[in-house]
Amino acid sequence: MQPFRIVDLIPEDKELIQQTAQIAFEASQSISKIWLPTVEAAIEEVHESLKREGISQVLLDGDRVAAWVGASLQFSERVLEIHPLIVARAYQGNGLGRRMVNHVEAWARQRGALTLWIGTSDETRATSLSGVDLYENPGAAIANFHQLAPHPCGFWLRLGFCIVGILPDAEGVGKPSIMMAKPLQQKGGEADED
Ligand SMILES: CC(C)(COP(=O)(O)OP(=O)(O)OC[C@H]1O[C@@H](n2cnc3c(N)ncnc32)[C@H](O)[C@@H]1OP(=O)(O)O)[C@@H](O)C(=O)NCCC(=O)NCCS
Repeated sequence: MQPFRIVDLIPEDKELIQQTAQIAFEASQSISKIWLPTVEAAIEEVHESLKREGISQVLLDGDRVAAWVGASLQFSERVLEIHPLIVARAYQGNGLGRRMVNHVEAWARQRGALTLWIGTSDETRATSLSGVDLYENPGAAIANFHQLAPHPCGFWLRLGFCIVGILPDAEGVGKPSIMMAKPLQQKGGEADED
């Protein structure tokens, strides 16, 4: 059996882009009906990921796409946003999501980035942050966060990310985006004077 390998996506590789879009479309349906409504929208998303300064890579099982990760550098390369992370439905629950995040983390650390972050929307009323007034006391809403149903934030918490912010109504009334981050370098340094 061939081991998994991670390769760069390139605009010329139409077959790989098509496969990546297909797994992204299928896997995204459980979390969002608006993000990737069609395979064509997913193809567009893949092309968008290739334009960003960062990485867009797939994990191959033979010649089959098992997972896709994109990540873009921000804030003069101090920050890296992972978007998107997709594990094909048939491969979920086997450690591939963790493997892709570890891979991105290593890449970001090597470049000296300080913060890794992701945004995950709650469109399905799966967390205590949906369907409530987040302007009233956002700090308390975050402190009292809990899951009501399965949601990817459970995965990110498991990987050591913590909730650092919420963007109310990002996906519609009562459907926030949840920002989660993880430090990449050891804590305890002096703050920069600037
Ligand atoms: C979320 C996703 C990337 C996770 O990938 P995965 O390969 O299934 O996850 P892994 O097998 O690597 O899981 C790593 C750990 O997280 C846990 N985990 C995975 N999904 C979880 C969830 N939804 N809630 C709680 N914990 C979860 C696993 O149990 C495992 O725990 P362990 O450390 O005890 O072994 C994948 O399910 C996916 O692509 N979902 C659809 C798209 C999506 O939601 N992307 C993220 C958008 S923000």
